[in-house]
Amino acid sequence: MPPALNAEEIRDANTRYHDVAADHYDAKWGIDFGEIGQEQVVAKVRKALGREPEHFARSLEIGSGTGYFTLNLMRAGLIGRATCSDISPGMLQKLQANAQRLGLAVQTRPADAERLPFADESFELVFGHAVLHHIPDLPRAFAEFERVLAPGGTLLFAGEPSRYGDVLARVPKRFASAVAPLWRRALGAGSAPDTDGQRPEAALEGVVDVHAFAPAELADAARGAGLQDVRVAGEELLANWFGWTNRTLEATADPEQVPWAWRMYAYRGYLLLQSLDRTLLEPRLPPAIFYNLMLAARKRAR
Ligand SMILES: C[S@@+](CC[C@H](N)C(=O)[O-])C[C@H]1O[C@@H](n2cnc3c(N)ncnc32)[C@H](O)[C@@H]1O
Repeated sequence: MPPALNAEEIRDANTRYHDVAADHYDAKWGIDFGEIGQEQVVAKVRKALGREPEHFARSLEIGSGTGYFTLNLMRAGLIGRATCSDISPGMLQKLQANAQRLGLAVQTRPADAERLPFADESFELVFGHAVLHHIPDLPRAFAEFERVLAPGGTLLFAGEPSRYGDVLARVPKRFASAVAPLWRRALGAGSAPDTDGQRPEAALEGVVDVHAFAPAELADAARGAGLQDVRVAGEELLANWFGWTNRTLEATADPEQVPWAWRMYAYRGYLLLQSLDRTLLEPRLPPAIFYNLMLAARKRAR
């Protein structure tokens, strides 16, 4: 059990962990800024809103990391003037490098989600992906999101771990750990070198995630900040099981010895199952059983 940290220590751990993770983040998570990435991100926005998204003139991303959401939404033509904030300056540096490579102009600003350095009513869209679960004081952060949203503006978060989905994800992780020696033998790959001692972020891995959510908790956080038209949806079940199985297997092997064909199978299989989840399961099953939750809400128009 990692020791319990206070809110300031959690924020500090997040800054340090993500500063170090920034360099290999895109490769680790298969982040794409081409057609696939755009399709993934636009599909998530559509699913969270429950409708075709409109164009947003000014957007603010919270915990933007290397730019997966903002840069893909800009390329898809959904947002105009984009501002990206993150507690990790290292992530924002990487984001600027990605933006430059793609020929996109983005404002970046290091910021804690609980204290946003932006004027009231500055953005038509405030959003984030896989960030709420890192934030110690959610009511305070949601009050900030509401404050910087323009009247009638949209709040949107995706990629938040669901409490039940998180428990379900332990099944493929355990299964993969048990069969990993057989899997490595079948692929002819050696064991992963034990590098945890040399990775400065390894010790922080267990302390940066502070929440997994029930759908009602996310909805209450938005309503508690005075937002309306609150909507919570779930996504990824089969894709997630497949993804965690493969990531757990791969983590046990020397990365140099994992064949390219395996990596392609894992990547394409994930995309295939993502589309099966989207078309078959997500419209039929309750949000709570999916691995990821998404939230959308609106600020009252004047
Ligand atoms: C899992 S990463 C997701 C990054 C990006 N949104 C993506 O989907 O690729 C979480 C991000 O949230 C940022 N973060 C963590 N705690 C934060 C806080 N209190 N305020 C703002 N950003 C935070 C981290 O630095 C990191 O970049």
